[in-house]
Amino acid sequence: MSDGPGPLAGRRVVVGVSGSIAAYKAVSLVRLLQDRGAVVDVAMTRAATRFVGPLTFASLTHRPVLDDVFELDADQQIAHVELAEAADAIVLAPATANLLGELAAGLVGDAVTAIACASRAPVIVAPAMDAGMWTHPATQRNVATLREFGYLVVEPEVGELASGLTGIGRLAEPSAVLEAVERLFERGGDLEGLHVVVSAGGTREPLDPVRFIGNRSSGKMGAALAETARDRGAAVTMIAGAMGVTPPRGVTVVDATTAQTMREAVMRAAPNADILVMAAAVADFAPARASQRKIKRSGENLQIELVPNPDIVAEVGEMPDDIRPFLIGFAAESQDLEVNAAAKLRDKGLDLIVGNVVGGPFDAIGSDENKVTVFGAEGSLTDWPMLPKRQVAERLWDLIGDRYRTARNTDGSAPGGRRRRRS
Ligand code: PMT
Repeated sequence: MSDGPGPLAGRRVVVGVSGSIAAYKAVSLVRLLQDRGAVVDVAMTRAATRFVGPLTFASLTHRPVLDDVFELDADQQIAHVELAEAADAIVLAPATANLLGELAAGLVGDAVTAIACASRAPVIVAPAMDAGMWTHPATQRNVATLREFGYLVVEPEVGELASGLTGIGRLAEPSAVLEAVERLFERGGDLEGLHVVVSAGGTREPLDPVRFIGNRSSGKMGAALAETARDRGAAVTMIAGAMGVTPPRGVTVVDATTAQTMREAVMRAAPNADILVMAAAVADFAPARASQRKIKRSGENLQIELVPNPDIVAEVGEMPDDIRPFLIGFAAESQDLEVNAAAKLRDKGLDLIVGNVVGGPFDAIGSDENKVTVFGAEGSLTDWPMLPKRQVAERLWDLIGDRYRTARNTDGSAPGGRRRRRS
């Protein structure tokens, strides 16, 4: 057993085994994970059971092994969905070329692919195959797709392969896979003890009982920020406007689909937050009156009077220093990003602002990727490429975490970790 509680203590890890001779190494991996205090469940493809018997894993883990996508658990629940929801991490080792192809294509014909696809936990993939298969463009394309999904890949090693030939494709050593799993949770701790509030999605300003003025924000950027903050140990409140994606598990979700309700939710949450990130696309205007009845066609032009909505983030910027959280806004701009972002940073009293481009050939709204530039009072702070939103969120938390800690150390901290004075 482990000598102390490490990053894996008490974590639920699902090990998914697919049909490769390297399946025997998954046995060592399961033992290593257990030695570090993880609670391990094993799922196997049918092909994997031809290399190692489920009984081996069941005996080691003292838990049922899932090798049938249609199986129900003891409570008559769908077993792969239960495992997918319970998992803190999923490790696919060994992952065959076939498994990578199925995952990249979203084909979920067995217990392993079904769990990986159904779960929102981080997924680590450790491929194992013949060198020719690994270097084949189809496999490389599938691996690239999985990376885009945010999967972490533990690269195969060069060595003797099952064929007797030497080349790349050998499953990484179980200790290397273990390290990757541990890193997942070690990195997780840097926001521990902080309460983070993230707004996400767009607001919808009602015109009548069925119509609204809204925008195309999907909530992907805000959800990625909430999810990564959760994974890094923060207590997360997500204030959710209209969303095209499901909020991450393990965060407190407050629904707020109009600018007014979002304002109320943010003003309630902000004094208890250490950090507030406003990624939501809040409508700047709302109809002066929402009709109680559905507006009928009359053949005439329809005039709608719009009135300005409250500027939520600017109101938080004005809060007294003892309750004002460290404050990050977003600037969605179709032109002059730097100038407009700098003006918003100043006018709204923000600590940082994240600029991104909308409405052009690349449009941050709705996309799975984003290219952002972060600005502070001293100007542009980053030069990051286009990245999946999850990776953008990771980099943002690295930067926000550093800045927050510097500000807190400079200004002194309140008991909850909040700053007492601003610089
Ligand atoms: O949701 P996705 O599809 O993933 O797209 C992400 C995104 C492009 C919507 C996101 O990255 C983003 O840029 N969010 C902010 C959009 C926005 O409203 O930008 P803005 O430049 O109009 O507003 C500046 C800041 O003021 C924002 O932090 C905004 O939340 C805040 N604001 C705006 C208006 C208002 N009435 N109250 C506010 O608090």
